[in-house]
Formats: sequence, structure tokens, C-alpha cells
Amino acid sequence: MKYALYTKSQLGKNLMGAIQSKGVENAVTFCNVQAIPITDSLSTEFNARIKRVSNKPRNSNNRANKVELAHVATFKTQLMNKEEMKPIVEEEGGRVNFYFPITTNAMCLQCHETLEQELKLSTYDKIKALYPEDEAIGYDENQIRGIWSIEFDK
Ligand code: HEC
Repeated sequence: MKYALYTKSQLGKNLMGAIQSKGVENAVTFCNVQAIPITDSLSTEFNARIKRVSNKPRNSNNRANKVELAHVATFKTQLMNKEEMKPIVEEEGGRVNFYFPITTNAMCLQCHETLEQELKLSTYDKIKALYPEDEAIGYDENQIRGIWSIEFDK
């Protein structure tokens, strides 16, 4: 949980900074160039494999695998039923796999909502140019955008 929350805070801080200094459209470039390198550098720091994955990815490198998809579905059901979403922890051969939901807030909608609501056409043009196969739109607040998938040595 520490790895997930710390990575989230680093991505969030840098994203907010990029939006404030350059605007939403240009912050798309920040996510494109920096999201995976920031996550990877924290993987190295914590000696863990830290990933953000989704059932509807923007970057196809972040597509959830079969196990992760099942956990996305579990968290979605819990959210729908207003149950507390607790981390899922699985151990196998001395390795630990940790999964925890990534939910949307109002800020995310600028790049992940329905086109021409919070998500402006000019922003989406930029997204589409970088990610022709983007699936990551149509979200509302407080939905499951994806999950943390973190693996480390027990
Ligand atoms: C400025 C536009 C922008 C905003 C605002 C934004 N995102 Fe994204 N998001 C992106 C881009 C671009 C990517 C693809 C990054 C990459 O190539 O690694 C992405 C990727 C992701 C991913 C990885 C899975 C995937 O689809 O590739 C998650 C999870 C995610 N965003 C969640 C959020 C959440 C939660 C918020 C709000 C707290 C948010 N995003 C706000 C642009 C944005």
C-alpha cells in the first residue's frame, strides 16, 4: 500500500503541476512521456514491479491481464455495492502480488470523461494522435479507472 500511495502521490503532484503550468492539453504530453518512467523509477527505488493497469487502457502497455481483469471486476462490484475496497494480496513462490483500485475524481475527467463534456475536443485530438487505440474515455467521478498491480519479494 505504501508503494501504491507513494507512486500515486508522485504522479498526482507532477500531473497537477503540468496542468497548472501548461494547461490540460499539454499535460497530455506529460502523461505520455513521464507516467511510465516515474512509475518505473519508483519500481527501482522500492525493488518492486509497480504497474497501473486497466480494462480500458489508453496505453496498450497498461492493459490488464487475466488475473488483473478479474480483480478489476471484483473492485467494480464492491464499489457498486458500496462495500469497502480492500487490497487483494496473493502470494506465490516467495513473491507477493498486490492489487488496489484506482478511482476517478473530478480532475481526471478532463482527460478521461465523455467527449465534449469535461473532455474538450482539442485535448482529445492530442490524445488520439498519441494513442490512436485509446479506450480510456467515458468515465464519471468515483469509478474504477484501473488498478495498481504491484509485485515484490516476500
Ligand atoms: C492531462 C490528461 C490526463 C489527466 C488529467 C488524467 N490522465 Fe490518466 N492518462 C492520461 C494519459 C495520456 C495516459 C497514458 C499514459 C501512458 O502512456 O503511460 C493516462 C493513463 C492512465 C492510467 C493507466 C492506464 C491506461 O489507461 O493507460 C490510469 C490508471 C489513469 N490514467 C488514471 C487517471 C486518474 C485516476 C486520473 C485523475 C486522478 C487521471 N488519469 C488524470 C491522461 C490524463
